[in-house]
Amino acid sequence: MGEQTGERIAPRRVRVHHLRAMKQAGQPITMLTAYDAVTADVFAEAGIDVLLVGDSVGDNLHGHATTIPVTVEDLLPHVRAVASRGGRPFVVADLPFGSYEEGPAQALRSAVRMLKEGLAHGVKLEGGRRVAAQVKALVDAGIPVMGHLGFTPQSVNAMGGPRVQGRGAAADDLLADALALQEAGAFAVVLEVVPGPVAERVTAALDIPTIGIGAGAGCDGQVLVWLDMAGLTEHAPKLAKAYAQLRTALREAAQEYAAEVRSRSFPGPEHTVAE
Ligand code: KIV
Repeated sequence: MGEQTGERIAPRRVRVHHLRAMKQAGQPITMLTAYDAVTADVFAEAGIDVLLVGDSVGDNLHGHATTIPVTVEDLLPHVRAVASRGGRPFVVADLPFGSYEEGPAQALRSAVRMLKEGLAHGVKLEGGRRVAAQVKALVDAGIPVMGHLGFTPQSVNAMGGPRVQGRGAAADDLLADALALQEAGAFAVVLEVVPGPVAERVTAALDIPTIGIGAGAGCDGQVLVWLDMAGLTEHAPKLAKAYAQLRTALREAAQEYAAEVRSRSFPGPEHTVAE
């Protein structure tokens, strides 16, 4: 990521060309996950540039241990809830595991559903050279595609857990994957749990923006799962920073409510319908 130059890029609606312009201007891109209309509104008000309706809904809200069980059907209502707010952020829908691996035709069917039924602006899929044909097919069909390299949660079983990727000789592979995604037409690439210097090298080599999560400050932007960012997750990963303590605040609010119900101090007359 270069030094910030010139005027701040602040479009009324964020589109892919703005993200590339932000990279060129050295202006960091902000991205958060969102899975519902309420958080979509709040994050739009906060000026977040990109909302990702991630398959992380699986392990964050649906109670799964990983993102692997998540289906297109599971994700679509979340995508529609976020994208139908029609606000400033660019809305990216994840393509879940099993919805694109068969090849370009399957990927196109899944991505079209995310745009037509979910109203997303673009999609994200995991992998590098192995999915370049899928990325090209989607881009040729007019669908903006974000790549995802490094630790890719849909491959958690093959990777032997959430481990750092791109160390040592694997850095060259990571760079080759990133270049293949750019060549195929991707508009940005997420780098997850990659050593900082490797993420910086990839960022410098690409014309398209990199969005880091656990990849250091050298990326063109950053993404976090919103529950980690807000302190709602019980055991957040070390790469995340909590900017609020919503878990504590929510528990205390629920305890206070329960205490007032038990003591009959809620509802009061002001919450009670008069005759
Ligand atoms: O699903 C998700 O939330 C993601 C981010 C962690 C990048 O893929």
